[in-house]
Amino acid sequence: MAETRTVAVLVGSLRDASYNLKMAKALDGLAPPTLRLARIEIGKLAFYDEDLEANPPPEWIAFRDAVRAADAVLFVTPEYNRSVPGVLKNAIDVGSRPYGKSVWNGKPGAVMTVSPGGIGGFGANHHLRQSLVFLNVPAMQQPEAYVGGAAALFDEAGTIANDGTREFLAKFMQAFAAWIETILGGPR
Ligand code: FNR
Repeated sequence: MAETRTVAVLVGSLRDASYNLKMAKALDGLAPPTLRLARIEIGKLAFYDEDLEANPPPEWIAFRDAVRAADAVLFVTPEYNRSVPGVLKNAIDVGSRPYGKSVWNGKPGAVMTVSPGGIGGFGANHHLRQSLVFLNVPAMQQPEAYVGGAAALFDEAGTIANDGTREFLAKFMQAFAAWIETILGGPR
């Protein structure tokens, strides 16, 4: 039987009514049972400042430990000005240091961008992928997930009513589960 894998989920929006947060919650119910999705908070991380490394803030330590403990990482993020929101970039930077101790190194990853706009956060998706190349996070190539029209996607309870979208999201998570096994060398 396939092993259970813990996936750290980082949401690139801090607002309560975030579509990306809704998406991360919806993915919980659409992922195969072999994936355990664990959302990790990034909103309280102090801005990266190398001077703090002598005595790192407890939030940095807890964040690094949580990502390190996960088998894989899933980014669910909006696009800000055609790029990655600062809060998510900061979390990525915090996890990448001290030099040589990056918590990202070698972890299988996947990227989903969610936007009310028509192009589904394409710019943020690919800017994020650029950082993942440097961080040695093997990011799943296919299927890509640029989710547009987010304002019409969720009902009051945060459920995705559209069957086609739900099917696509379930396939995305199945592909990610297979990708994790490919990278970590488990069963296919
Ligand atoms: C945006 N938004 C946005 N949308 C987009 O598709 N491309 C973009 O470049 C931007 N830029 C942008 C910058 C800033 C500073 C904000 C606050 C917003 C709109 C954005 O997609 C929208 O606010 C989403 O609802 C944000 O995601 P959450 O919070 O709903 O997850």
